[in-house]
Amino acid sequence: MNGTDVALPRRSFGRTMRTDVWWVQPLLVFLGLGTFIVYSTWAAFQGTHYYFGNYVSPFYSPEIFGDSPHSWFGPKPGWWPAWLIFSPALLILWAPGGFRLTCYYYRGAYYKAFWADPPACTVGEPRKIYLGERSFPLIMQNVHRYFLYLALIFILILTYDVWKALWFVDVTSGRSSFGLGVGTIVLVINVILLSGYTFGCHSLRHLVGGFLDQLSKSPTCSRAYACVNCFNRRHMMWAWLSLFWVGFTDLYVRLCSMGVWTDWKIL
Ligand code: FES
Repeated sequence: MNGTDVALPRRSFGRTMRTDVWWVQPLLVFLGLGTFIVYSTWAAFQGTHYYFGNYVSPFYSPEIFGDSPHSWFGPKPGWWPAWLIFSPALLILWAPGGFRLTCYYYRGAYYKAFWADPPACTVGEPRKIYLGERSFPLIMQNVHRYFLYLALIFILILTYDVWKALWFVDVTSGRSSFGLGVGTIVLVINVILLSGYTFGCHSLRHLVGGFLDQLSKSPTCSRAYACVNCFNRRHMMWAWLSLFWVGFTDLYVRLCSMGVWTDWKIL
């Protein structure tokens, strides 16, 4: 059968034959991600109210240098340039931020919502050329697998923060004792949601699944692959829940530290 080439007309930006409300999803992504970016940037530059007793905000953990008791290597080092703004969060947030920025799910979401490239399927876009992720600058998205290694380390550190959040220091005796506060539960949920997001990462599937174009025959790898697939099926859900909750966790610790909220002890 002979084929015929038909030239499709290029639609101008925003033009489409779709009759559904295709613009709702990119708009919600724009508002959700935009709100998180504004809040997290503001919180990261504050440098204060990021811990409350045994709780530390996930935006500031690990606290490599800083003034809180959670700091690993003490206060801001003397060699830090006076002209350069200092906040413990700015030393570390590039790692989880880079992990989210290069995530396969978020790429698809913000390419549409922020770059309109295209705004939605079969909707006209503002650019005439498509370079894709095989050329600069989007080829840089391939560093995602390296951000994954860092994200896994962060999960371990945040789990340790949960452990610390179970031990409350008595201000009069200085003794610490086991307990459970609402803040402990907030931190636990944060680790669960971040783990669900991280363990469903596409790059982790490649890492545990086997070799190039071939699944591993090892039972351990097969089980790990099935487990990652299980989280991966709802990767978008984990991505949004963990994004919301990590921001809320910072807000919870911040408002407790400022004396606006009271952290109720359950045990
Ligand atoms: Fe989303 Fe890796 S693909 S975290």
